[in-house]
Amino acid sequence: MAAIVEVKDVNMNFYTLEGELQVLYDLNFSLEEGKILALLGPSGCGKSTMLNILSGLLKPTSGQVRIDGKLGYMFQRDHLLEWRTIMDNITIGLEIQKKLNEEARQKIESLLKTYGLWDFRNRYPRELSGGMRQRVALIRTLSVDPDILLLDEAFSALDYQTRLLVSDDIYKIIKNEKKTTILVTHDISEAISMADFVLVLSKRPATIKGIHNINLTIEEEKTPLSARKAPEFKDYFNALWKELDIYED
Ligand SMILES: Nc1ncnc2c1ncn2[C@@H]1O[C@H](COP(=O)(O)OP(=O)(O)OP(=O)(O)O)[C@@H](O)[C@H]1O
Ligand SMILES: [Mg+2]
Repeated sequence: MAAIVEVKDVNMNFYTLEGELQVLYDLNFSLEEGKILALLGPSGCGKSTMLNILSGLLKPTSGQVRIDGKLGYMFQRDHLLEWRTIMDNITIGLEIQKKLNEEARQKIESLLKTYGLWDFRNRYPRELSGGMRQRVALIRTLSVDPDILLLDEAFSALDYQTRLLVSDDIYKIIKNEKKTTILVTHDISEAISMADFVLVLSKRPATIKGIHNINLTIEEEKTPLSARKAPEFKDYFNALWKELDIYED
């Protein structure tokens, strides 16, 4: 199958008052439609920079990125506006783009109903739990009907238990809606439990240390929670743990 995302020889340097900062070094990877790729790397290695390049917010110093479809970007913080209702938070992107037509409204209505938020449409963000806020942020991202989702540490603001439940929720939504996804995380277990492929980045300047195809034996339906019970889970964990530069500075 043809790749829907292709990253070729990408280098990124930032030029600051202190001088040149080399952040990404010679990155090459691609992703097929419908797959989930996790970018796993130590803090500050350049993961968000890579997503910003994919989204077109940043231009790489050299190299190319090819994206075959429309992108949806979900940031680390949910960025919900406290003075707007849930519905008005979800429609804001379409409103700004002047694309809030009847078809879009129906799509949003169906997403809210399917994912348990319809009864909360007239509430305000502060009335929702962290997990529900994350779901609202995802539905807002889905409302523009993207082909490819970019998720930057989407769960990191949540406590551990909520995080497990929310990643399960979000995974089911991504799979249901058949979205190709690139997610950034520094949590090894999250990467293994959610992704089809895990790409391990070194510390800065980020180079690719390895790409792992995750194949887990799961009796029930695959979700991040059931994936954690697979016998191969700990083997992937050990391999990725060794590969990550966690011990150095
Ligand atoms: N616009 C910029 N100008 C200068 N330096 C930048 C800029 N954006 C990011 N950096 C630097 O580039 C490096 C990589 O940043 P980036 O945010 O991509 O890392 P990250 O892997 O996402 O980190 P974290 O895990 O903490 O989110 C950091 O040292 C950061 O300070
Ligand atoms: Mg980041």
